Amino acid sequence: MKGIILAGGSGSRLYPITKLYSKQLAIIYDKPLIYYPLSIMMLAGIREILIISNEETIPLYKKLFGTGSHLGLSVSYTVQKAPNGIAESFILGEDFIGKDRVSLILGDNIFYGKMNFFYSAVENEEPGATIFAYQVKDPQRYGIVEFDSATGKPAAIVEKPKHPKSNYAVPGLYVYDNRVVEIAKGLKPSARGELEITDVNKAYLDMGELRVEKIGRGLAWLDTGTPEALLQASNFFGVIEDRQGLKVACIEEIAYNKGFISLKEFKELAGTIPDSLYKDYLLRVAEE
Ligand code: TTP
Repeated sequence: MKGIILAGGSGSRLYPITKLYSKQLAIIYDKPLIYYPLSIMMLAGIREILIISNEETIPLYKKLFGTGSHLGLSVSYTVQKAPNGIAESFILGEDFIGKDRVSLILGDNIFYGKMNFFYSAVENEEPGATIFAYQVKDPQRYGIVEFDSATGKPAAIVEKPKHPKSNYAVPGLYVYDNRVVEIAKGLKPSARGELEITDVNKAYLDMGELRVEKIGRGLAWLDTGTPEALLQASNFFGVIEDRQGLKVACIEEIAYNKGFISLKEFKELAGTIPDSLYKDYLLRVAEE
């Protein structure tokens, strides 16, 4: 299974931060936003990662993650020239995906809580696609799944409906078999000029091969699109990390816990970090 993090976009709602770089580098409490989706991929055991972003931001991601080898990962990078749509990920990532299955996470999506629904979708090698459905109070802003009331099966997927028939939104986390590349290549841009991920999901729905897993209230799916949302997410993780003394989305710790790097490598890695609370935390984890 390969993993793509789509981390570009226009980020117009976060101007002027996004005048400098794409929003996935905005800080959520004590680390860049992209650490959170990267952690989800790592926790699912995905070690080959492609980061897609705009030309200005790619060098900054390279500075953050390099080849990923210090984390036991293989991280590569591709430029998306313009925000041509989420589904363009699979066209830009065609060589990277090769003959594999692929998971896509949007670099501004934060999940916190039990992610077993995603880990099982990654492990399940049946053909088709798996997406998720999360109840929201403002479904007009999202791609929405409508369910058949008799069978409970997904009946339709609608992008930002004016009069939503369901409040189940599709979060930016998707699992596809290899056919997604051909499906994406066959798409036409929508009225807003984008290759829509909703159209990819519709294609799987039409083939009868779209699984939609409902996610319960035990999971936090946080928005990061506006300054208020960034502040709320920072406060959320500040409270949790302070209360437990444990870090969320600490990629070095996850690499060690998942066995991607040895204890010796983990200690060496911690040794390269400037004196900081982050380093103290890693040294404490190494001792425990
Ligand atoms: P969007 O919500 O479509 O847009 P945005 O977040 O960039 O900005 P705004 O609405 O404030 O103008 O993007 C969802 C995510 O996908 C986000 O992480 C940006 C990313 N993205 C790309 O990297 N490339 C794209 O072509 C698109 C459409 C989005």
